[in-house]
Amino acid sequence: MRRPPASRILGTGHYLPQMVRTNQDISKMVDTSDEWIRERTGISERRVAAPDECTSDLASAAAKNALDAAGVKASELSMIIVATVTPDMPMPATAVFVQQKIGATCAAFDLSAACAGFVYGLSIADKFIAGDPNAKVLVIGVELLSRVVNWEDRTTCVLFGDGAGAAVLGAAEGDRGLLGTELFTDGSLGRALMIPGGGSISPASVGVLEARDHKVKMEGRAIFKAAVKNLYSASQRVVTNAGLKNEEVDWVVPHQANQRIIHQVTTKAKYSDDKVLSNIARVGNTSSASIPILLDESIRNGTIKEGQVVLMCALGAGVSWGAAVSRM
Ligand code: ACO
Repeated sequence: MRRPPASRILGTGHYLPQMVRTNQDISKMVDTSDEWIRERTGISERRVAAPDECTSDLASAAAKNALDAAGVKASELSMIIVATVTPDMPMPATAVFVQQKIGATCAAFDLSAACAGFVYGLSIADKFIAGDPNAKVLVIGVELLSRVVNWEDRTTCVLFGDGAGAAVLGAAEGDRGLLGTELFTDGSLGRALMIPGGGSISPASVGVLEARDHKVKMEGRAIFKAAVKNLYSASQRVVTNAGLKNEEVDWVVPHQANQRIIHQVTTKAKYSDDKVLSNIARVGNTSSASIPILLDESIRNGTIKEGQVVLMCALGAGVSWGAAVSRM
């Protein structure tokens, strides 16, 4: 017999900046078109943070919504995990600023697993709560990618958006909770998606700035292939290991990277299109924030209901990927 779940998502929240940047707007910046972007990615528009907004602002707004939804006070939290590749600054962790902004006092740290960061965070929170059932853990996926995208590179700048999503986890309730998580990394593709400058290999310098090495560089096709292959296998594995069949999954909440990736993965796994949730047209690829934003929107608009089984899967830079299945 399978172990009952240890942890459960008690509440979710999200935050999207006000400013909308459409495909038409981008077509005035680089040589692209609305048609190309929609056909190749499914994206029509994305949100861009205001100049005075930083990553911890977005994260804190999402966190407050999640805490309200969960009925948990910030002072009750045992841990804050902020999954991001666009921190407020290299040191300290963005999570420490979130801790201050929401009025918490618990341990707080950042997690770097790119687009898979929220799924990684769920898995860590689940294991933490398994060891301490009284713990309440806040997991945030947040990105301010507009600050690290090269707005002169049409192959990347059309893809990304800013936003934050969050979930508060606590002890499971009967069969409601996280039924399984699976995490993977293939470092052989470590340079297929990167911000090469500003770290220990190439510290910040005039040369780094001139080469635009402080901006995102990507081999799109390699990432695409890795995403289709690995998201399919991780999703199948997490469902099987949870003792479920694909037919028992009510909703698929995939990372919103590219509508074609989502379609290829879910078609291969034989999920009907009406089970697969998507908001990529409106928000683009928000990396680690993508799953919790979509999850929260779908809970708030009544699509995902209590007791239903939700499959989440994400892959990003690293390449790192993972999947989680939860009975809500
Ligand atoms: N507008 C117009 N033309 C463009 C644009 C653009 N924005 N970008 C690239 N092109 C051109 C290319 O230059 C190329 O022209 P060429 O044939 O004359 O050389 C042509 O379009 C086709 O380029 P491809 O790279 O083959 O296009 P592809 O169909 O692979 O789509 C894309 C590119 C959308 C980036 C795709 O590879 C992709 O989505 N990859 C996954 C990347 C991703 O999602 N990264 C996000 C982070 S990781 C993650 O979240 C999974």
